[in-house]
Amino acid sequence: KALRAVTEDAGIQESSVDVAGMTLRVDEAHDAQKAAQPAAQLERPLILAIESSCDETAAAIVDGKGNLLSDVVASQIDFHSRFGGVVPEIASRKHIEAICGVCDECLDVAAQRLGMERLTWSDLDGVGVTYAPGLVGALVVGVAFAKGAAWAADKPLVGVNHLEGHMYANKIGAPDFAPPAVVSLVSGGNTMLVHMRGWGDYRVLGATIDDAVGEAFDKVAKALGLGYPGGPVVSAQGAKGNPKAIEFPRAMMHSGDMRFSLSGLKTAVVTYINNERAAGRELNVPDICASFEAAVVDVQVKKAEMALHETGAPTFCLGGGVAANPVLRAAYGKLCKKMQVRLVMPPLSACGDNAGMIALVALDRFRQGKFYGLETDAQAHADLEQEY
Ligand code: KG4
Repeated sequence: KALRAVTEDAGIQESSVDVAGMTLRVDEAHDAQKAAQPAAQLERPLILAIESSCDETAAAIVDGKGNLLSDVVASQIDFHSRFGGVVPEIASRKHIEAICGVCDECLDVAAQRLGMERLTWSDLDGVGVTYAPGLVGALVVGVAFAKGAAWAADKPLVGVNHLEGHMYANKIGAPDFAPPAVVSLVSGGNTMLVHMRGWGDYRVLGATIDDAVGEAFDKVAKALGLGYPGGPVVSAQGAKGNPKAIEFPRAMMHSGDMRFSLSGLKTAVVTYINNERAAGRELNVPDICASFEAAVVDVQVKKAEMALHETGAPTFCLGGGVAANPVLRAAYGKLCKKMQVRLVMPPLSACGDNAGMIALVALDRFRQGKFYGLETDAQAHADLEQEY
């Protein structure tokens, strides 16, 4: 059914398959993985994992070598952008509409890659799913679907913490990535530094006490009338501006710990915008965006440096939607060079929510025999440190 490959951009294909009004994005093979192993060799276990914690309905299949045989994402952004943010009720309904089609496409893409005519749920060895943290009404769709599929096909179920998925996303670009490491998790809902002592052994070094970094990007974009999501458009505007034009506050920069605060910065930017408008001055949008980004990045880098000093970790890595920000990536490049620490970053296609990263976690847990019962439920919150 699927006539794929309408466009090809760095290994990302836009499928011609349309599900629930969304064009599927098929990350058929991430570059590093493509190089690691050609397809068409079935290495068990084969695990299909589902991600539905926010506004992406995604499914991926990983094989026993850790190769992603298919990685399909249906993004709902177009349905939420008109409201200026994710509307939980819409997210839940869209997940319900999309999940069957996304999983069908995921199975079809993997079958094609393996040179098989068809791949069914019975051909799999396990089903993985994000069970927390996120929007409960969105998570519950993936969890219920995964439980149903696992039960019907008589396969074990593996629950995955979404944040751990973002850490594993680093393996997509660098299959040899391994802890110990410091991870900066920066997304629309989270901002934290984590000491990854081993796979499954995590210590949160510090987190935001109010807004998340991505949320700050979204709110600044909203104040400037740039639409949702704010990150990509603020960084595109920022690239044309002067980061030193406006001195915005660097909250908690010298707090001596690894906590963050973003709400004061957001208020400072909004107040600046309102004052400029009230004074009848034309806004210099690129300068505002560049200066805001610089304030965010300065604090992120300062705390990352503290975390690397405190832990002595030899590797630094990133996760979450904001990890796609070019200024942040460049600043971390500089820091890691200075500190002689290895920098690992997920490919741009794996920074935001995807099921490939969930499948990689599920593979490890499957191997450890950490299975979940059918009483497993979606949870809005989950403690990363208590995961295992
Ligand atoms: O991890 P993610 O896809 O999911 C949620 O946490 O919801 O992150 C989405 C967030 C949004 O707030 C978006 O504005 C931000 O990541 N984002 C960016 C960039 N691309 C996405 N922020 C800064 N720069 C970017 N290039």
